[in-house]
Amino acid sequence: MTQRSHRRDFLKTTAALAGATLPYWTTSAQNRALGHSLVADRHILGCIGTGDRWDQVVTGALKHSDCVAVCDVDKSHMEKGREKVTDIQGKNGKDIPVDMHEDYRKVLDRKDIDVVTIVTPDHWHSKIAIDAMRAGKDVYCEKPLTLTINEGKQIRKVLQETKRVFQVGTQQRSEMGLNFLKAVAMIKQGRIGQVQKIICDIGGSTDSGAISEADVPEGLNWELWLGQAPKVAYRSSKEAKSSNGKYPASRSHYEFRWWYEYSGGKMTDWGAHHVDIASWALGIDETGPVTVEGTAVHPCEMKNGMPTQDDRYNAAVSFDVTVMCPGDVEMHIVSNSKDGNGILFEGTEGRFHVSRGSMKGAPIEALKDKPITEDDLMKLYKGKKPGNHMGNFFECIADRTDPISDVYSHHRAMTTCHLANIAIRLGRKLTWDAEKEQIVGDSDANQWLSREQRKGYEIDVIV
Ligand SMILES: NC(=O)c1ccc[n+]([C@@H]2O[C@H](COP(=O)([O-])OP(=O)(O)OC[C@H]3O[C@@H](n4cnc5c(N)ncnc54)[C@H](O)[C@@H]3O)[C@@H](O)[C@H]2O)c1
Repeated sequence: MTQRSHRRDFLKTTAALAGATLPYWTTSAQNRALGHSLVADRHILGCIGTGDRWDQVVTGALKHSDCVAVCDVDKSHMEKGREKVTDIQGKNGKDIPVDMHEDYRKVLDRKDIDVVTIVTPDHWHSKIAIDAMRAGKDVYCEKPLTLTINEGKQIRKVLQETKRVFQVGTQQRSEMGLNFLKAVAMIKQGRIGQVQKIICDIGGSTDSGAISEADVPEGLNWELWLGQAPKVAYRSSKEAKSSNGKYPASRSHYEFRWWYEYSGGKMTDWGAHHVDIASWALGIDETGPVTVEGTAVHPCEMKNGMPTQDDRYNAAVSFDVTVMCPGDVEMHIVSNSKDGNGILFEGTEGRFHVSRGSMKGAPIEALKDKPITEDDLMKLYKGKKPGNHMGNFFECIADRTDPISDVYSHHRAMTTCHLANIAIRLGRKLTWDAEKEQIVGDSDANQWLSREQRKGYEIDVIV
């Protein structure tokens, strides 16, 4: 169905308001505008980026919405996306046409779509999210939301202007047996006394070795995939080391996370989860750190913070970063620790470790006698019942409130991760002014708060 025919039908529906059964594509936003209360609150979804992670995201989103369009710059992913959506909706007895678009702006142009998921590589998140908010869509966008600190300020500004509902895909805040939510509640209730030290173990990036140039696979629009990043030759090699069984080592699908051009390596990939939780627990999610310094090993030679080789992954394979937070609390962001992936909280009255699979330590044992209550968790969870990240997004769309992984706190957590990357790449200690959002007394380092964006892919928000 074309956009024009959607509009035509919508006008017909407007004329025939009183109680008629509206077609599936009449969005809840339109329903509300029409003052219509009879239609079930189904949203109309457009999916931008239908790669690996999207499989999980869309499964959740389709419980609350009907998808009418998928978009991907790789035709095979887009076709797989349409197949999956058609299959799920078909099993639910819905025969809904699903359009395919290579250019995400076509999805944003559609007036029937009120919600979008953005599950592209990191270097595309900000631009698409900003365009989506300006087009009036509510947004579920994967973490890490930004490539630079400046992008976080831009998204925040447009969110304030457009008042959209925006959930970041850090599902650790909602799910994983509520382990992390309980941990945050424990810290906020003083269950380990005064927090002194936090260790976020997030693992390191992959070292690929040399990856040869290769022909761009048929159906992949390499120019569009690159977006704001520099125009470079496509590289892919089955001989080099990839981190994912599904894809070969490359500059592209899934493996983009090990290139600073498109991501921040593990520092932002998993920092977006554990540093986010640590910042929330410490209450620095509206401010930020005081100083950031650290060391790292990169898989290629670096000069002035930039990789000198372009044929291999370049994000840090190991690192040890110390973030000093207000109140002299030390946060360490490390690629390796004796406790493994997770967060260790140490306070004046005890210590415990939390990961996706477990919670360990004496303060955890003590929960048997004095549990964290459902009420405690709901207070932390902005008054709603936790347990489902996507569900929380749609609940917040209904009452127009900020979801649990809001842009404001995520931007602050990502600021710490981006500063950590700047510090290890430049090899020096940075002092951060959280109010001005500037590095203090280091004009060179401040240049790293944003990046040059390729012509045609700039983000035009002045902050
Ligand atoms: N929340 C989590 O736990 C979690 C887990 C995995 C991945 N992620 C995040 O999800 C995002 C995607 O990761 P992935 O592993 O699925 O990568 P992926 O490479 O498998 O998928 C990304 C898809 O986006 C497409 N794409 C690129 N540019 C596009 C554009 N301009 N418009 C439309 N589509 C475009 C690619 O072709 C690809 O199909 C990343 O930001 C990643 O950090 C989050």
